[in-house]
Amino acid sequence: MRSYKAKMVTPIRLPSREERSRNLERAGYNVFNLDAAAVYVDLLTDSGTGTMSDAQWAALVRGDEAYAGSESFHRLREAVRDVMGFEHVVPTHQGRGAENVLYGALLGEGDVAGGSSGRERPVVLNNTHFDTTRAHVANQGAEAVDCPVEGAWDRTVEGDFLGNFSVERAREVVDEVGAERVPVVVLTVTNNSAAGQPVSMANIRETAAFADEIDATFVVDACRFAENAHFIRERETGFADRSLAAVAREQLSYADALTMSGKKDGLVNIGGFAAVRDPDLLERTKQRAILYEGFPTYGGMAGRDLDALAVGLREAVDPPYVAERVEQVATLGELLSEAGIPIVTPTGGHAVYVDAGDLLPQVPPGAFPGQRLVCELYREGGVRGVELGSFAFPGADRPEYVRLALPRRTYWREHLEHVAETAATVREQREAYTGLEIVSEPPMKELRHFTAELRPR
Ligand code: F0G
Repeated sequence: MRSYKAKMVTPIRLPSREERSRNLERAGYNVFNLDAAAVYVDLLTDSGTGTMSDAQWAALVRGDEAYAGSESFHRLREAVRDVMGFEHVVPTHQGRGAENVLYGALLGEGDVAGGSSGRERPVVLNNTHFDTTRAHVANQGAEAVDCPVEGAWDRTVEGDFLGNFSVERAREVVDEVGAERVPVVVLTVTNNSAAGQPVSMANIRETAAFADEIDATFVVDACRFAENAHFIRERETGFADRSLAAVAREQLSYADALTMSGKKDGLVNIGGFAAVRDPDLLERTKQRAILYEGFPTYGGMAGRDLDALAVGLREAVDPPYVAERVEQVATLGELLSEAGIPIVTPTGGHAVYVDAGDLLPQVPPGAFPGQRLVCELYREGGVRGVELGSFAFPGADRPEYVRLALPRRTYWREHLEHVAETAATVREQREAYTGLEIVSEPPMKELRHFTAELRPR
């Protein structure tokens, strides 16, 4: 059952198939190069693309635009304290801004014995680093190592908490490099890079204890903390009777610090923050924030945006909202499965992951089956998804996934049905599809999926 209704709408239009084919050619077979107006159902990302509530729009008007110490900052701080249990918050323009200031403060010169020159590279462990997290860790001269559980990348393995952190794997790394080289352990909830799968409370506690044991700072990437809390209540013994808000808070209570992209479970279009407990770390984080984001009571956000985020965080732990959110992702998964599309099951919190390698077995990884699928979903139905396989992650040993991410509170069942019908059409024609080859790409291969241009082979 829906617990909201629309009172503001955005017209969308499905261009003709001919137009879509032309757009695809013009975009160099890269849907990042499409005009959004030429997209009918946009499932490129769930980040910053959701619909705000009337309470959030009202909050915008209250925004206090004072440079320092604004009322809006105080309201955000209260929301972070109430919903996430952290006293100290440093706003940033979005999640990666929080990563920059926090990882800079934790890993930057002077924090690890010997400073950055002549020191051994620190190692950061994470269930799976999201791309920007990996880049910010690397940018601080540290090495990002993933510790997913076995089966996290295997579509045939089903589990309740395949997003978990493998403490076993982490111990192997620590045995190899030495605990003193691992100053930070991160847990990403839900695990976006492992098909949006959730992390259990038991695993959060175990990972926190492990971080404590090796004397590392325990950071939670809390982007999708409310969705993760929902899964814990649904799937983990002992949580069904606890409130969603209490479970959401308990998850984060074990962390020393958080990075947050408000564009996900903050239910806003822009914004984020770092939150910390230790006063010294707060000071260092603030100093970096001043350098890269803005004065630490606004940090790259307008006062009005701080207010909208304060309201969004509270709405994110409203049980009917999250239940519907996760249910909508499951519905898209069911509709696609019924259409014969191979997907990762059970579906995670924010997106359905399609296995393009399975759907297009004739297209080898070097010819980007996922990217071909993304292009054909656009050509056949104006649907935009994103490739997260060999095109986005060159050289990584990952499945050929395509992610269809649902913006929050934005699409209705009819849109999902259209996506499934489009996928069914693509499936019917699957044997005709060849692979793609790259025509031009940027110097940094890791970023190529944003701008590279391709053509059919
Ligand atoms: N961490 C995770 C797990 C994320 O999914 C993202 C963003 C970030 C950090 C960075 O946050 O975009 O506000 O700077 N994920 C988006 C996505 C871009 O499409 O999955 P940001």
